[in-house]
Amino acid sequence: MVAKKNLCVLILAAGKGTRMKSPLPKPLHIVCGIPILAHILKAAQDLGPAAIGIVVGHEADTVVNTVQAGLHDWGITAPVVFVRQTDLSGSASAVKAALPLLQKFETVLVLNGDTPLLKSQTLAEMANVFEGSEAGALVLGVTVPDPAGYGRIIRAADGAFENIVEDADADEDTKKIAEINSGMYVFSSKSLQTALTQLVPQGPKHEFYLTDTLALIKQMNQPVLVFAGRDYEQALGINSKAQLAEAEQIMRDRVANALMDEGVTLVRPKEVFIDPGVKIGADTVICPGCYISGKTVIGKNCYIEGNCYIKDSVIGDHVALKMGTYIEESEVADECQLGPYAHLRPKSVLKKGAKVGNFSEIKKSVIGEGSKVNHLSYIGDTQMGAGVNVGAGTITCNYDGKNKHQTVIEDHVFVGSNVNFVAPVTVHEYAKIGAGSTITKEVPAESLGIARSRQVVLEKKGVKKND
Ligand code: UD1
Ligand code: CA
Repeated sequence: MVAKKNLCVLILAAGKGTRMKSPLPKPLHIVCGIPILAHILKAAQDLGPAAIGIVVGHEADTVVNTVQAGLHDWGITAPVVFVRQTDLSGSASAVKAALPLLQKFETVLVLNGDTPLLKSQTLAEMANVFEGSEAGALVLGVTVPDPAGYGRIIRAADGAFENIVEDADADEDTKKIAEINSGMYVFSSKSLQTALTQLVPQGPKHEFYLTDTLALIKQMNQPVLVFAGRDYEQALGINSKAQLAEAEQIMRDRVANALMDEGVTLVRPKEVFIDPGVKIGADTVICPGCYISGKTVIGKNCYIEGNCYIKDSVIGDHVALKMGTYIEESEVADECQLGPYAHLRPKSVLKKGAKVGNFSEIKKSVIGEGSKVNHLSYIGDTQMGAGVNVGAGTITCNYDGKNKHQTVIEDHVFVGSNVNFVAPVTVHEYAKIGAGSTITKEVPAESLGIARSRQVVLEKKGVKKND
């Protein structure tokens, strides 16, 4: 095991990412809900290094600001240091820019900033093999079905590492080699520092290749090891939108398989979009087209119909979400039923057994135990007690154009259809509200509140027959 205090991880994230054809810096493109760079930071942190350096260059401020704003949400507590690369002349120049940081450590694990599928377990194995050897460097090599675009690992007749040839510099024979450089390395910091002073620019763009340091270290009579990675997908480097989509699918598959291992039923595993980190209980059924993201936790034995969207929410056990239900930053207790097409906006809380039906919208409100808002209603800024029945088309008028106001509906209130509650207003327990009322004043307990004009019938004023 590498002594953690001597280990630093360096992530190279300064490149232009030209092939993405996007103004967004490449490390910030999203895979399964979080930036590529966040996935790499998480894997790096799992190693327990003394420091994580991120080399930034292209759109440096955007990258730094986004990372700093995201660290907490991504669970990164390890010390992160940003290093600026001003001369964007290749991966070796990126490492050179970080020399003042690297000099403080014995061992440096270098990671490209575009490989979101890497696994921390592989990084740990690489560090351990390196530590148990006399090597000056170690590279993670994987054999891939389509090596186009990657640097190829050239081995001597006895299998020992010889050098890495970049795709742009490879001849036809070299291009046939399927063992590629994953862009993940462990270096002795001293050997790396020496090799960096000896580089010459290479390739069509006259870049300084980090990959050339490996052959230089070998020339210094220090062994260079190729650590053969088992799961080649983890080396997928994102250079284009097609590779971004490929990484997204692979990670979605990983999440789906892990959930099914835990007993979750995915009706069509390839047709759900569940972020890593989402927790779901056994025998909950997820139908196709659902997006479940962020810090969401779902209990057991729920039934989630197609096309539901759930973000940063907590859902209890035995909950039924019908088709198209949309839930954000809310809590839904056991045995609730929602939808089809119900909408919970942030800070909504549904207590046990509550029901919110078709085309009803709830915002920043508590719906008490067993209460029902079944049809076409808007409930905002409301405290609703238990056993309340809200008729179809009921609206809380919570906004006066300047401020938001509260509606309080106590236990066992019965609200007829098409009622407006002009907030602030309170309806006390066991009160009844007549259909079509616009309620502007407090309604006492057990009383009937009714606020509508009486019906008038004018005879012979209807539709004239045979007109
Ligand atoms: C690189 C490797 C290649 C390997 C592949 C794996 C080199 C020379 N080649 O190729 O052998 O198979 O990754 O995915 O390293 N960067 C900087 N500053 C720069 C240039 C690049 O920080 O001036 C960073 C990029 O942001 C990126 C990483 O270095 O994260 C690699 O650069 P990229 O252009 O993606 O290299 P590849 O051509 O993919
Ligand atoms: Ca790359």
